[in-house]
Amino acid sequence: MSVLYLEGYTEFMRNLPIGIFDSGLGGLTVMRELAEALPDENIVYLGDTARCPYGPRELGEVRRFVLEIGAWLTKHPVKLMVIACNTATAAGLGLAQRVFDIPVIGVIEPGARAAVRSTVNRSVGVIGTVGTIESGAYSRAVRVLDAGVTVFSVATPKFVDVVEADLRMGPGALEEWLAESAEVFIRPAFHDMARGYLEPLKRSGIDTLVLGCTHFPLLEAAIQQVVGKHVRLISSAEETAREVAETLQSRDQLALPDENSGIRHFATTGDPVEFARIGSRVLRQRISSVDKVDLSELTGLPSARLMAALEDESAEEATCG
Ligand code: DGL
Repeated sequence: MSVLYLEGYTEFMRNLPIGIFDSGLGGLTVMRELAEALPDENIVYLGDTARCPYGPRELGEVRRFVLEIGAWLTKHPVKLMVIACNTATAAGLGLAQRVFDIPVIGVIEPGARAAVRSTVNRSVGVIGTVGTIESGAYSRAVRVLDAGVTVFSVATPKFVDVVEADLRMGPGALEEWLAESAEVFIRPAFHDMARGYLEPLKRSGIDTLVLGCTHFPLLEAAIQQVVGKHVRLISSAEETAREVAETLQSRDQLALPDENSGIRHFATTGDPVEFARIGSRVLRQRISSVDKVDLSELTGLPSARLMAALEDESAEEATCG
């Protein structure tokens, strides 16, 4: 390969956006960190709101969504993909890394790394959706980093419902609203539910709790109240942003500042007006335009090669159990 060709390729890749997706709006908590860490990058975000939540679905189904959205993003094209959803990471990160010829980064390994770095007594709690927790992906990721750390996991699916319901109400910056609403309106109900989920983790003596769902950083104040201030809460967003920066740096593909840098592009399979209204509050930045992507557009995208890879993976999973 000639030097000129390589230089042209690097230049081409450098100017492409980063692609990022989630089952809905929760991934915007990751995008927020990404945009702050890498302000010159152009970013394309797809929120699959029409099929949210992913948490209670079969992992095989979520894996197919990962392929569809991955195919949509690579068609864009993008230079790197971030799966800003724990459930989708648990279901489809490995497959996406195998079938797409760009780096694909999930949120579980960065969250596990941050937790291992944070824990002193080597007892870590993880909360997430049923899909994420039942996959065992966090326990595996922590074990690879430090087999001496004990992981206590609890599925907290109702937390997603609380965020989704509260996202649709109240004015102003979202975390403040959620902290306030936890105090004033839903406090007894939320606290009973949160205590039910979190007391067993507290009793296990954890000193670190991973918010293993991209919706949960929005409930940080309320969760902290229940677990107490001696437990450190970990959101994988910051660590994920760092990994994206390091990956692009090592490939010499970090965007350079110019008049076309820092452009954000948003799309949703749900209602674009609602996505813009609520998304602006999660992102703490006005989202002025959102494209609508029809599900029929996504479902038709994976090629025969991608569908064959998906079937192979499901067959392997069925064999291995
Ligand atoms: N954002 C998803 C995650 O991180 C949770 C919401 C859902 O169930 O779709 O797992």
